[in-house]
Amino acid sequence: MLINQVMVIGAGQMGAGIAQVFAQAGLRVKLNDLNEDALQKGLDGIKKRLTKAVEKEKMTENEKQQAFENLEGTTDLRAASDCDLIIEAVVEKMEVKTKVFQSLDAIAPDHAILASNTSSLPITEIAAVTKRPSQVIGMHFMNPVPVMKLVEIIRALQTSDETYEAIEQMTEKLNKTPVEVNDFPGFVSNRILMPMINEAIYTVYEGVSSVEDVDTVMKLGMNHPMGPLTLADFIGLDTCLSIMEVLHEGFGDSKYRPCPLLRQYVKAGWLGKKSGRGFYSYE
Ligand code: NAI
Repeated sequence: MLINQVMVIGAGQMGAGIAQVFAQAGLRVKLNDLNEDALQKGLDGIKKRLTKAVEKEKMTENEKQQAFENLEGTTDLRAASDCDLIIEAVVEKMEVKTKVFQSLDAIAPDHAILASNTSSLPITEIAAVTKRPSQVIGMHFMNPVPVMKLVEIIRALQTSDETYEAIEQMTEKLNKTPVEVNDFPGFVSNRILMPMINEAIYTVYEGVSSVEDVDTVMKLGMNHPMGPLTLADFIGLDTCLSIMEVLHEGFGDSKYRPCPLLRQYVKAGWLGKKSGRGFYSYE
């Protein structure tokens, strides 16, 4: 299957990064968001990162221009009507994602593959709301997308081999490493990562240690490149909470219960780096 025209739904931190890597790989990309300001912020972020790459001599001015020319912003979902691959990267809420997939299913050409960048939600359930379940798949990029090499490819129960192979090849074209994963809560990455982050939050909540010290233990003691609370801020605390809820509900095991402190931060609107405050302050 030939994939030339791609569309990314949601221009937040993940969607903008995903659009950028496709544009850099020479594909035509439409970046979509409901919100005009979010779309502009996403496009500005891409421009800034590409300009920085030129300054650091990781890319030529010409390559930057080429990547930017491959990119188009739109708030109109109907722009999906000529796309071969559409990747959804909207908020981590099942009801929002299923609505987006139903709309895309009605708009996109019959041959198009619909992928979700969800961190944890069941791809099988998303596939089931469309009339093309064999062409639905999980394409889980890591944050920050232009830097991180891994893409977890999640097979829904209904995903065809043809769809899987097309996405595996596309991942390699993006110069990233695909890993095949079956559809279980949290897949592999977040089933392992998120309980660690949640436990780090419990450690602070129970007064065992401070935010900074928990991060220092994991950085210097375990050789992690960044502490779990810094990472949580970076991912977004709302996204972390949603993933813990999916694990908790999906496995029915109390070991996945989200820490009350995480819930409280999300209620306060302290969502991490993107909102200016989380476990650390970014103002
Ligand atoms: P974000 O909050 O930065 O961006 C979400 C964007 O989606 C916002 O700009 C919002 O306006 C837009 N949006 C919401 N509903 C929409 C709709 N119906 N149509 C078009 N746009 C819509 O969130 P982020 O961090 O980019 O996460 C997006 C997805 O990627 C989530 O499913 C998340 O679980 C997943 N993910 C997040 C990672 C992270 O480290 N933050 C890592 C890997 C996956």
